[in-house]
Amino acid sequence: MKAKYPPFIIGSMRLGNWGRDLSLKDLKHFVDGCLDLGLKHFDHADIYGGYTTEAWFGELIKSDQKYQNDIEITTKCGIRYVAESRPTHFVKHYDLSSSHIIASAENSLKTLGVERINSFLLHRPDYLMNPHEIAAAFEHLVASGKVKQVGLSNFTYDQTQLIHRLFPIDVLQLEISAMNWQLFESAIPAFCQLENIALTSWSPLGGGSIFSPRPDDQCKRIIKVLDKLAEKYQADHDQLLFAWLRTHPCKITPVTGTANIGRIQRYIHRGEFVLSEQDWYLILEAARGEKVA
Ligand SMILES: NC(=O)c1ccc[n+]([C@@H]2O[C@H](COP(=O)([O-])OP(=O)(O)OC[C@H]3O[C@@H](n4cnc5c(N)ncnc54)[C@H](OP(=O)(O)O)[C@@H]3O)[C@@H](O)[C@H]2O)c1
Repeated sequence: MKAKYPPFIIGSMRLGNWGRDLSLKDLKHFVDGCLDLGLKHFDHADIYGGYTTEAWFGELIKSDQKYQNDIEITTKCGIRYVAESRPTHFVKHYDLSSSHIIASAENSLKTLGVERINSFLLHRPDYLMNPHEIAAAFEHLVASGKVKQVGLSNFTYDQTQLIHRLFPIDVLQLEISAMNWQLFESAIPAFCQLENIALTSWSPLGGGSIFSPRPDDQCKRIIKVLDKLAEKYQADHDQLLFAWLRTHPCKITPVTGTANIGRIQRYIHRGEFVLSEQDWYLILEAARGEKVA
C-alpha cells in the first residue's frame, strides 16, 4: 500500500537541540502554523537531539488532544548513538535486531505520546542485519496496530529488495536533491514505481548548501539555472528545487528541514507545480556538470 503524504513532510531534526533549539512556545507556533496549512506529518528519529527531540515534541503533543488527533508521525530507529542517556553505548553502531526494532517503536510511541506511528522506518542499514528478523519485527508492529506503515531509509537497491521480498515496505526515505541527484541513475526509482513504494527525500535543499554565502561550483551552476527559471515559473529557488523532485514520476515528497514557518507558508501559498521536461533536464545538467549522453 503506497503511503499517502501531504505535499511536504515536516522534518524535526533541526527544530530541537541539533538545530534551532526552539522553545516549547516557538515549537507550538511552528507546529500550529504547519497544521493551519494542512501539513500534519512530522518526521522524527529516536536519535534526534541526542535522544531528546521526540520527548520534547511529545510534550507538545501530550499538552492538547488536538495534537494527538491531528499529528501524523514518521519516526526511525536502528542507529545506536553514544549519548549520556545511553550509558551502555560505547561506540556508534547500528542495531536492526527484532528486539531492538520493536522496543524502539514502543519507546517512540510512549515518548511522542501517540497511539500509532504512521510510518516507521529503519534509519540506516545494519552491516549485521538479518532480514528475517526485520520482517518478523515489521509483521509484529503492523499486526499489533502500533505502526501503520513500514519503510527504510538510506538502504541501497539490493538491501531494499532483500527486505521488501520478505515484508513489503511502503516508503523509502533517501537523500535526494539537485545536489544529490545520483539516485536517478540507480534502479531505485523504477523499483519504487513497480512496487508502489512512496519515495521521500531528506535534505531536499541539500541541507541549505544552495543558500550558502560561499556556494561550491555545483551549487553555482544550479543557482544560475534557477535564476533563469525563477521568472518563468514565478517561483523562488527553493520552490523550484521542490518542484524538481515532484516532477519525477515517483512524485518524490520533500522532507523539509526549515524551522522557519514563514518559508513553509511561502511554499504552500505558491501551490504545487511541476517543471517542463526540458527545464527538469536543465537542472539535471547543471547538477551533473555535463550534458546527458
Ligand atoms: N533519513 C535520514 O537519514 C535523514 C538524514 C537527515 C535529515 N533527515 C530528515 O530530513 C529533514 C530535512 O533535512 P535537512 O534539514 O537537511 O533539509 P533541507 O531542507 O535540505 O535543509 C534545511 C536547511 O536549509 C535552510 N534553508 C531552507 N530554506 C532556506 C532558504 N530559503 N534560505 C536559506 N536557508 C534555507 C534551513 O534553515 P532555516 O531553518 O533558517 O530555514 C535549514 O538549515 C530533517 O529535519 C530530518 O527530519 C533524515
